[in-house]
Amino acid sequence: MFKLSTLAAAVFAASAVLSAQAGEVEVLHYWTSGGEAKSVAELKKIMQAQGHTWKDFAVAGGGGDNAATALKSRVVSGNPPAAAQIKGPAIQEWAAEGVLGNLDAVAKAEKWDSLLPKVVADVMKFKGNYVAAPVNVHRVNFVWANPEVLKKAGVAGMPKTYDEFFAAADKIKAAGLIPVAHGGQNWQDFTTFESVVLGVGGAKFYNDALVKLDAKAIGSDTMKKSLETFRKIKSYTDAAAPGRDWNLATAMVMQGKAGFQFMGDWAKGEFLAAGKVPGKDFLCAAAPGTSTAYTFNVDSFAMFKLKAGDAQKAQADLAGAIMSPAFQEVFNLNKGSIPVRLNMKMDKFDDCAKLSSKDFVDTAKTGSLVPSVAHGMAIKPAAEGAIKDVVSQFWNDDKVTVADAMKKIATAAATK
Ligand code: BGC
Repeated sequence: MFKLSTLAAAVFAASAVLSAQAGEVEVLHYWTSGGEAKSVAELKKIMQAQGHTWKDFAVAGGGGDNAATALKSRVVSGNPPAAAQIKGPAIQEWAAEGVLGNLDAVAKAEKWDSLLPKVVADVMKFKGNYVAAPVNVHRVNFVWANPEVLKKAGVAGMPKTYDEFFAAADKIKAAGLIPVAHGGQNWQDFTTFESVVLGVGGAKFYNDALVKLDAKAIGSDTMKKSLETFRKIKSYTDAAAPGRDWNLATAMVMQGKAGFQFMGDWAKGEFLAAGKVPGKDFLCAAAPGTSTAYTFNVDSFAMFKLKAGDAQKAQADLAGAIMSPAFQEVFNLNKGSIPVRLNMKMDKFDDCAKLSSKDFVDTAKTGSLVPSVAHGMAIKPAAEGAIKDVVSQFWNDDKVTVADAMKKIATAAATK
């Protein structure tokens, strides 16, 4: 009797402790493809192991446009999720609305300032306070290929220049296969476009034209050549590309229907989730002309102000979990990206990730580490959206001339 009541008291005390600490985290994200879902499941597992309840708020749609719309309506109605996948300058815009919480307690305790590259930490802060937690570093200027397709078509290896790329594409076409798997959605069009601009013009030109939005660079011969090269790539895509999701384009490469895909390294997460082996079943390389440059895309979760104490605790635990070495490793092994936390061991990562990690460090030194515009890292969302629309119109309609597109990009760049 005595023993039983002691046990009951202990159980009661334990559950009281758990419920005092445990809370719910509602997490808005757009990770719904095979590789993405596997990755985010790791975060859910960590939170559940800490006794918290994970409320999944997944909004399908690559690149996150649909998720951004869903978030706006929830915040406007005064009911934000605990955390939302927001990145780059959009973090600043949300923070300026006064709706984000302050993560400084956990950031100070865990020494985030010393664990993150300064460029990344600055993006996560508003007026000096942490308001978001970074997850990873994705490299956008990658091209993926099916080695069997290349072999069948008589292509010797991954193309390093656009001349080599178009020669390879011609051979794949002649072999009766689709040279380039593409999904015609404006963020995917721009993912290809920014890699072309980087490859044709180099990192300085990319920065001038697409980040600083300098009118001279936008009106230059280099931009003309970039647009011409971009349009030429389109002629190697299939008629069913418009509207296709990015992961379905990746599947075309996987299944040997297509040779190449221009896509960030979340595509690798897709190959891996399907059990494919890098270097054997699929190849990765920097997009033509970009091996000494790097377009970065850092995923992060901004945290919204919450009232309830248990919810705040769960939210702080989420931020801590995101930056923990264990999560940074397992998440990024699945996601295709590399850890954003500095000094992580890369021994479990494959060669594509090791290449990304090395190039991230090297390009930071040479000044050719540049923010991805397609993935919300570089410019204010309004101008980004307007420029993306112009580039997609150009891609979709051959009647839009290169000169027209250049003029329209310059106008779109001024969108406030
Ligand atoms: C995100 C990735 C995501 C991809 C496709 C990118 O903007 O940074 O995390 O996998 O879009 O949805």
